[in-house]
Amino acid sequence: MIITPRVRGFICLTSHPKGCEQNVVNQINYVKSKGTIDGPKKVLVIGASTGFGLASRITSAFGSNAATIGVYFEKPSAEGKPGSPGWYNTAAFEKQAHEAGLYAKSINGDAFSDEIKQKTLDLIKTDLGQVDLVIYSLASPRRVHPKTGVIHNSVLKPIGQTFSNKTVDFHTGNVTEVSITPASEEDIENTVAVMGGEDWAMWIDALKAANLLAPGATTVAYSYIGPALTEAVYRKGTIGRAKDHLEATAFTITDTLKDLNGKAYVSVNKALVTQASSAIPVIPLYISLLYKVMKAKGIHEGTIEQIQRLYQERLYTGSEVPVDEKGRIRIDDWEMRDDVQAEVATLWEQATTENLSEIGDLAGYRTDFFNLFGFEVEGVEYGTDVNEVVEVPGLV
Ligand code: NAD
Ligand code: NA
Repeated sequence: MIITPRVRGFICLTSHPKGCEQNVVNQINYVKSKGTIDGPKKVLVIGASTGFGLASRITSAFGSNAATIGVYFEKPSAEGKPGSPGWYNTAAFEKQAHEAGLYAKSINGDAFSDEIKQKTLDLIKTDLGQVDLVIYSLASPRRVHPKTGVIHNSVLKPIGQTFSNKTVDFHTGNVTEVSITPASEEDIENTVAVMGGEDWAMWIDALKAANLLAPGATTVAYSYIGPALTEAVYRKGTIGRAKDHLEATAFTITDTLKDLNGKAYVSVNKALVTQASSAIPVIPLYISLLYKVMKAKGIHEGTIEQIQRLYQERLYTGSEVPVDEKGRIRIDDWEMRDDVQAEVATLWEQATTENLSEIGDLAGYRTDFFNLFGFEVEGVEYGTDVNEVVEVPGLV
């Protein structure tokens, strides 16, 4: 079929297999161009199909020759119905990995469930024996709690007071004022239940109990801090509470891993266009201004540049992992530079519907958004028929 984008708000209902494949190939080529990393050998990536998790899987495999198992929740392709981008990304990744002689298998299902955890443990036991790196990169709006059965829905709200600020509809470029009413106590608890560290700890506990973690094993989860501009709705809002919990969980997990000489880290990453971040109010406006400033300074990075740098310059340097005063790895260092933030803050004051395409990188935002779904990718032929049904070669 000929597949075109069908956009509804901040999601796209269709995705393009060739575009997704090209994105993955581009990321692989980038990692290869940066040379070999003396990194992990057997890696489990939870949330492996898009965004930072996919970049982690690619960096592990093509930067460090690692065997990888990916866990994700994606819609398979069917006749007349394109799959979700993460389905096509994984198909492309596993095809490339197998051609390169690398072990790559994956499991599609709810990572929060006991069933998918058990399936993953069984696969590791049979195929890899143990893993030496576990990347935790889930971004989900809901979680069915495996012990209580309760469905938790996460919300993006400020805490304590109404938040009012500028936001942009990145499709139209319309800059408007948005007001978000504060979260209830229940909203906070639900968001922490979905995006906090409980599930990460459950994964590590289960892996450890089954003796599937190698001596010195490392686990990394991803967090975000961001600027004062977005603080009330992000870091000091409901999602920030979840990130606080995630960051605190790193210490608990490190205790769990003591006898293995293992360690848990949270890496604070840069703001980027992903399916998760385009749903957050105010963030798209911030990102479009940030992109403009960082590109002008020659320090813009995408997910693959971020994760490649995380591995090569933080996690696997051969010496101690550098962390901030709260024990976190900072790969958002360029985003948070004073000169970058000062320029973004000035542009933020100025931003209007009329000038945003000039002073901000709205075009870059949109391109990145469409790229997530395999559209507007350079070198891909969109006018012709493609087979929408694609197999994931390593799917278990
Ligand atoms: P993403 O939406 O691109 O990726 C989410 C992944 O989780 C996908 O592989 C998806 O299949 C998987 N997933 C979701 N629900 C699942 C479930 N129930 N079971 C199994 N898999 C499931 O998101 P992302 O932006 O890469 O986010 C990953 C992490 O990075 C999050 O913790 C996020 O907060 C963090 N982070 C994001 C940004 C940003 O700007 N995007 C910045 C810093 C940190
Ligand atoms: Na991810």
